[in-house]
Amino acid sequence: MSDFKKKYGEWALIAGASEGLGAEFAAHLASRGMNLLLLARRQKLLENLTTTLEERYGVETRWLVIDLADADLVEKVSTAVSGLEIGMLVYNAAYIPIGDFMDRPLDVQQRVFDVNARGPLLLAHTLLGPMCERGRGAILLMSSMAGMRGMPRLAVYSATKAFNSILVEGLWYELKDKGIDILACCAGAVRTPTYMRSFGREVSGMMDATNVAGQALDALSNGPQLIPGRLNRLSAFFYRFLSRKRAIRMIAKATWGKKG
Ligand SMILES: NC(=O)c1ccc[n+]([C@@H]2O[C@H](COP(=O)([O-])OP(=O)(O)OC[C@H]3O[C@@H](n4cnc5c(N)ncnc54)[C@H](OP(=O)(O)O)[C@@H]3O)[C@@H](O)[C@H]2O)c1
Repeated sequence: MSDFKKKYGEWALIAGASEGLGAEFAAHLASRGMNLLLLARRQKLLENLTTTLEERYGVETRWLVIDLADADLVEKVSTAVSGLEIGMLVYNAAYIPIGDFMDRPLDVQQRVFDVNARGPLLLAHTLLGPMCERGRGAILLMSSMAGMRGMPRLAVYSATKAFNSILVEGLWYELKDKGIDILACCAGAVRTPTYMRSFGREVSGMMDATNVAGQALDALSNGPQLIPGRLNRLSAFFYRFLSRKRAIRMIAKATWGKKG
């Protein structure tokens, strides 16, 4: 297993770390020796997770209760990271309200944008400066296969995921000679508490969160994009041969079972 601490730096900041994929990223990174600064809204979950990881892996951990849509996100995170060498940012959190665009009030749609797009933009910009000065670091943004084309009933969510994937592509080129690895992880369905709360059912081809987190970390130096899982890669390949209209219709029908 690679020595992440040596390659990237002492600390990893995980935005959206209290459960699911975020907690799995934390466990994988702790097992690779990185100290952790874990961000989310639910304090109890963060406390329990940090205690478990400290005991199991002997790493240092800190947590910060924060809403990633907060207007003063940069100020709060800058204060929390002061004095720490943050060598890795994993931006995992997302807000995923399901429904037609006009059935949701504007503030809900704005919040999707804030958590899923503004948050990664602000944290990447804030943490990349010191990483570039040190000449080492890594950024992993959780994107989604839903960002490969517009997704009805998840239109703003899918647009924010496209934002993450495309942002990473540009940055990957800019950063490739600066010692910084950057990756967008475009996952298909992943078994997480958030997914089960949102969709209420398993789907075929669903992956375990620990598997997705492990594959994404293994692929960090092979950016700009990873689609975890062979089936997902096959499906992404297949959809490339369809017109965008046809692909949108097929995915909508497979997901929501109507308006084919
Ligand atoms: N699950 C899937 O099938 C799937 C598929 C493709 C891509 N993805 C992507 O993978 C990532 C994570 O997956 P997931 O959504 O299933 O969730 P998850 O990893 O199970 O949990 C999301 C984490 O983000 C935190 N979070 C959410 N909103 C937050 C906010 N406003 N401020 C601070 N923390 C916040 C949650 O903690 P608190 O509630 O404690 O704040 C939680 O720890 C997302 O970016 C998603 O788009 C997931």
